[in-house]
Amino acid sequence: MMNRLVIRRPDDWHVHLRDGAMLEAVAPWTARQFARAIVMPNLVPPVISVAAAEAYRTRILAALPLSDFTPLMTCYLVDRAEPAELVRGFEGNVWAAAKLYPAHATTNSAHGVTDMRTLWPALAAMERIGMPLLVHGEVTDPDVDIFDREAVFIDRVLAGVVRDFPALKVVFEHITTAEAVAFVEAAGPNVAATVTPHHLIINRNALFASGLRPHFYCLPVAKRERHRLAVRKAATSGSLKFFLGTDSAPHTVAAKESSCGCAGIFNAPYAMEAYAAVFEEEGALDRLEGFASEHGPRFYGLPLNEGHVTLERAKNEVPASLAAAGTSVVPFQAGETLRWRFAGPA
Ligand code: DOR
Ligand code: ZN
Repeated sequence: MMNRLVIRRPDDWHVHLRDGAMLEAVAPWTARQFARAIVMPNLVPPVISVAAAEAYRTRILAALPLSDFTPLMTCYLVDRAEPAELVRGFEGNVWAAAKLYPAHATTNSAHGVTDMRTLWPALAAMERIGMPLLVHGEVTDPDVDIFDREAVFIDRVLAGVVRDFPALKVVFEHITTAEAVAFVEAAGPNVAATVTPHHLIINRNALFASGLRPHFYCLPVAKRERHRLAVRKAATSGSLKFFLGTDSAPHTVAAKESSCGCAGIFNAPYAMEAYAAVFEEEGALDRLEGFASEHGPRFYGLPLNEGHVTLERAKNEVPASLAAAGTSVVPFQAGETLRWRFAGPA
């Protein structure tokens, strides 16, 4: 049995670092495990301009004075997004990608896209310059069952984008269904997906285990077991199309434990431990490094990280909550004992 795993330093290709006091509380957890992260732009107000992204990047770096962590910024796409601003931010090394939130699909997406056709000039520019499109892949049509929203999005939206922009780099974020796995596998090498720890570990039953479990609520919501198994198989397959993106999305304990609780799972503190457990269960520990540290940079056209990190087999108790922003946040797998421990630089 392997008791120590040394892998190239990993990156997180999808994270919510928030702002203000919450940013200061949560960014160190991400920077402790990951060298770089794709930072989501769904602040209030959202990060739409190059200037706003530069200012946010400065605030992130200020929250991490002792770290060499690199935040990779994203542009929040709105109806009629300006191609010139996208090109300026990407070519000026401010933006690594642009994020599509269908309006009202999730937390802070009120300014998201209501009419996809208005994005066609922006998508054409992104395809031309090699700027990745990151997709929250859910329709918001209230007539569509919430558990079907990802699969319906593929048919109604994503298939058309990929058809009309065959060279556009697309990351289908936080995939949760067998349909998403099949779509990504059938598409060209310019279409990839991120996979969260929670969608590898829980299915929708977790939300209702002996009562309502708000800390397992996120969007896209966890699906049936057969979908979890399909996502696990893809993530641990060694395919270059699947890579690590935690979607760590902290909310205060009061915002989660509410009559209208926020969507989001805070998994940054024990992310690598969670992924390691999944890869081990699938007999694929030798593929963890590709998923965590190689496939993402290859897709984004960025260099691999230089250093290495160690994961040790050790009992690792996840606390019930962690202090943050004058209150607390509940981490994913709170109260559980994990079998791996992230031990830092090798
Ligand atoms: O569960 C989620 N939380 N899904 C998202 O897409 C957004 C995120 C957040 O920002 O809280
Ligand atoms: Zn997210």
